[in-house]
Amino acid sequence: MHDLEKIFSLDGRVAVVTGAASGIGQSIAEVLGVAGASVVAADFDLDGAETTAASIQAAGGKAVAQQVDVSNREQVNTMIERATGEWGGLDILCNIAGVASDGPLAELTEDEYERVMGIHVKGALFACQAAVAPMSARGGGSIINMASGAIDLAVPNYGLYAVSKAAVAQLTQNLAVEFGPHGIRVNVLAPGATLTNFTQRHLKNPDGSINQEKFDGFVTSMKSMSPLGLYGEPQDQAWLVLYLASDASRFCTGQIWRANGGSTIPH
Ligand SMILES: NC(=O)c1ccc[n+]([C@@H]2O[C@H](COP(=O)([O-])OP(=O)(O)OC[C@H]3O[C@@H](n4cnc5c(N)ncnc54)[C@H](O)[C@@H]3O)[C@@H](O)[C@H]2O)c1
Repeated sequence: MHDLEKIFSLDGRVAVVTGAASGIGQSIAEVLGVAGASVVAADFDLDGAETTAASIQAAGGKAVAQQVDVSNREQVNTMIERATGEWGGLDILCNIAGVASDGPLAELTEDEYERVMGIHVKGALFACQAAVAPMSARGGGSIINMASGAIDLAVPNYGLYAVSKAAVAQLTQNLAVEFGPHGIRVNVLAPGATLTNFTQRHLKNPDGSINQEKFDGFVTSMKSMSPLGLYGEPQDQAWLVLYLASDASRFCTGQIWRANGGSTIPH
């Protein structure tokens, strides 16, 4: 019989997850931790990263928190060194940190362009570069980058966000070709609308509380995009990442993975 527990186990593996303080990154860090990986929960928001690390520890796993601005190469290198320093190597890297960017391309400023491309594209590139040596030293590894369903549909006012995520998808494919000979697999997620702090930015009252009417309207519109009538939850991406991080996906690299409720099926 196939040993399911063994193939999906991450016992003895070391993982770095960026964006681990909130939403999808938090869920990924927790699932990898439960699966046995030692996790560096990295985020700009150190308090949030510490909360995630504590929840992994409370569940019996191993985790530390690391503050990082992923657009800063030095800080990214320090983040990867934290993993090798704490646990002697690196097997899994999840580049999940990301930001929203709203507005028409015609009015885009150079500062906003640099900010968003810096976090999404430089962030993923710098971390992948820093991961090559420690992963190669272990005979390989698995990298999971974060794009978005925005790479499939041109939605007004999401232009820069979509362009930056399309760049991450292409970066992933090029890195998969370059890193393959080192045994390193590189894949990218393109999730559908998922309820997190990120998507709730338009649903808040001036005092920061959720506007129930807007929230209900948003949930209805998210559900209507999926033939299943579902909207995404962070764990929908985390279970996919568990597969991509584990040996079960050893034949998969350079692919765009769309856990999106079928929302981008042309119909
Ligand atoms: N929520 C969705 O519907 C959705 C859909 C597709 C793709 N995504 C992508 O998924 C990723 C996670 O989004 P989420 O919905 O969980 O959002 P979120 O806002 O809940 O989490 C994003 C995290 O990234 C961190 N972060 C932002 N800038 C950073 C930086 N420079 N350095 C380090 N950390 C930084 C934030 O502090 C935050 O903890 C993002 O890349 C987003 O673009 C989200």
